[in-house]
Parts: sequence; C-alpha cells; structure tokens
Amino acid sequence: MESYLLDWASLLLRWLHVITAIAWVGSSFYFVFLDSSLTPPVNEDLRKQGVNGELWAVHGGGFYHPVKFNVAPPRLPTHLHWFFWESYSTWLSGFALLTVSYLWNADVYLVNPANPLMSSNLAIAAALAFLLLFWLLYDGICRIFGQREKGEPIVAALVLALVCVATYLACHLFPGQAAFLLMGAMLATSMSANVFFWIIPGQRTVVADLKAGRTVDPIHGKRGKQRSVHNTYFTLPVLFAMLSNHYGWLYSHELNWLVLILMMFAGAAIRQFFVMRHGYLLGRNSHPWPYALAGVLVLLGTIAWLRPMPVESSARPAPVETAAVGPTGYAQLAGLFAQHCVVCHGAAVQQKNVRLDSPQEVKAHAVQIYQQVVQLRKMPFGNPDALSQEERQMIRQWFESGARVGP
Ligand code: HEC
Repeated sequence: MESYLLDWASLLLRWLHVITAIAWVGSSFYFVFLDSSLTPPVNEDLRKQGVNGELWAVHGGGFYHPVKFNVAPPRLPTHLHWFFWESYSTWLSGFALLTVSYLWNADVYLVNPANPLMSSNLAIAAALAFLLLFWLLYDGICRIFGQREKGEPIVAALVLALVCVATYLACHLFPGQAAFLLMGAMLATSMSANVFFWIIPGQRTVVADLKAGRTVDPIHGKRGKQRSVHNTYFTLPVLFAMLSNHYGWLYSHELNWLVLILMMFAGAAIRQFFVMRHGYLLGRNSHPWPYALAGVLVLLGTIAWLRPMPVESSARPAPVETAAVGPTGYAQLAGLFAQHCVVCHGAAVQQKNVRLDSPQEVKAHAVQIYQQVVQLRKMPFGNPDALSQEERQMIRQWFESGARVGP
C-alpha cells in the first residue's frame, strides 16, 4: 500500500513539476528573447519617457508592443506583474518529488552498493549538501568575480569547473540514476535561489526606491540580469540531467560522470547558439554557428563513444540458450528471481508494485522484466552487475520464446 500511494504521489508531483517548469522555462526563454530582440524606439515620445528598447510582435491573433525602460520607468504603474511563482513552484514541486522518489527510499535509491560505508541517513545528508554547497560556492564566485570589469569569463570558467567536480563526486558517491538527477536538482536549486535571493530582492529595492522618490541604483538591474543570464545557460543542462535518469545505459556507464558533463556542455553550447542568434538577426554579432557545431559535435562524439560493442568471442558466456539445452523455462528462472529480485519484489517489499515470487506474478510482469533486465539493464536496481551476461541471456530467451511459466 505504501508503495502504491508513493507511486501516486510521485506521479502527481511529477505532473505538477513538469507544468510549473514549462511555465518557468517558457517565460524565461521569452524574456531572454525579448531582451536580445529589443531595438531603439522609433517613436520620439517613447524615448522622452526613458524607453530604450521596443519590440513589435504578433501572436495568437493580436499585435503586441512591449517596451523596456532604461533602469526604471519615471512613474510606477498601478498594476505591476511579477514573475516569481513559476520559479518557486518549480523548485517546491521538484523538491517534493525528490523527497518522495529518492529521499524516502534512500536505502534503495541513494545508497551506492559499491560504497557500503554510506548509510541511508548519510546519503540523504550528502544529497542535500550537494544542493546547498553548490549554491554557496556558485554565489560566492558571482559575488567575488561577477562585479569586476570583464569578470564574466572568470565566473563562467569557475562555475564550469565546479559543475565538473560536483558531477564527478556525485557519480562516485551515489548510484548513477540518483547522481544524474541530483546534478539537475543542484543546478536548478541555484537557478531558483538566483530568483529568490537576487533577482526578486533587487526588483523590490528598485520598486521601493521609486515609490520613495529616491534615485534608482542601476546595480540591482545589472545583478539581476547577470543571474538571469546564468539561469538561461543552466536550463538545457538541467533538463538533460532530469530526463537522462530514465536511461539506464547512460547513467550506469563506467564513466557516467564524463557522459553527463559532455551532455550538459553540449546543452549549454546549444543554448548559447540560440541566445546569440537573436543578436545575429539584428546584426549585433556574427553568426553563432560555432556554438551549435560544438554542441552537436560533442553530442555525436558521445553517441559514437557509447555505442554498444560486440562481445569478444572469448568473453562470451557459455551458450546456454542453444537448442541442445532447450528453451529456458520458468523453472530455471525461479531461482534467479529468488536470488536477485525478491528482496525488493517479494512479500515484504514490492518496489513499483512488482512482485516476482510466483509464476503468475512473473508472467504478468514479463514485458516489464524484459525491459528492465534485458533492454535497460536497470535491474537488479542499483547493482545491475550482480546479474551475469548469461543470466540476462536466459531472461531474454525465456521472454522471446513466449514467457511461459507452465510446464
Ligand atoms: C535493491 C532492490 C531491487 C532489486 C534487487 C530489484 N529491483 Fe526491480 N525495482 C526496484 C526499484 C527501486 C524499482 C523502481 C525503479 C524506478 O522507479 O525507476 C524497481 C522496478 C522494477 C520493475 C518495474 C519497472 C517499471 O517502472 O515498470 C520491474 C519489472 C523490476 N523492477 C524487475 C526486477 C527484476 C527482474 C529484478 C531481478 C533481476 C529486480 N527488479 C531486482 C528495486 C529492485
């Protein structure tokens, strides 16, 4: 029952999380586009009011004309729309989802069987520490180097190095699936923290100054912009990290940390291409194709690198599946399930509502078993190497010959 309710909680939170993330990323992409597509206003009146950029757009049957003021408008409008709930609700639903799907069952999801020193409480603490420490270090880098003249390349290099170190550590401390997800959660936490600790407070200060008739310091706008630009480069890497944890062959690779770094790098480069493309269309910078090329080359290189290798004939397991032995029957598999699966799929615990301790249950889950064991190589969870190549072949053969459980 607990597992059934947890599955519902996870499904509903995932639904919510995807919806709020679409709203957040959507508005963030829109404002990056808007900012990079502004042109000086044509109308003299607008200039006099302090407008330094405008955009004309047509969407959904209407014409729109957003304008941007240099620092702030002379007077505050009565109704000012703020953008923060998109970000906060994405973080809150994401953290709840992380809790339900990883922290709740930390012994299964967060404890790396290759790292027996790690208890489930320690693993939870370590996972949370990744979220917090990355934010403190990243924020420190921005505070120290971000305000300097030409400080941005230093910030970018340091943040890149920090992400690489964090990814390497996470992939050694946690099972691959959790490590990939945590890297996404870690970057996304800093994105939300940028909104919470810098962008919104800066805007509040500006609004308060306007109301009090004080002159507005442009530093708040500049700082907010800097963090919002960082957020845009984090977006594609974060989405990749979040989605990739459905692909067992990816996160269980021996060098999974390198796989994730390469793919996140490709994501950031591709985002850079799209950001700069707006400027290119207005003749402000050269064509950003080198970024797209770099991203795509890294992507193709990773695809080529990870291609499945044919098993060396000497390393190939004994051909149990040959006709001489006869097709694998349930009798041969019952022992295998009992040894490798029933701890988590038996009377005591039923991960994902799957029980594998009776022929009927095994039959009912045959397709899923085939997917998890043969195609995704995901089970036994957290320790797929416990199953030999030979045992995997038996399951493949059993499934492909009809998944019979009777005599
Ligand atoms: C250490 C515990 C553990 C062991 C051992 C284990 N599993 Fe799992 N199994 C899980 C967990 C946890 C999930 C849920 C995975 C997820 O949410 O991605 C799961 C999910 C599944 C699913 C359902 C997947 C889905 O989402 O539809 C199947 C089928 C499955 N396991 C089969 C097996 C088989 C077959 C074995 C033995 C070869 C096995 N498991 C061994 C923990 C385990």
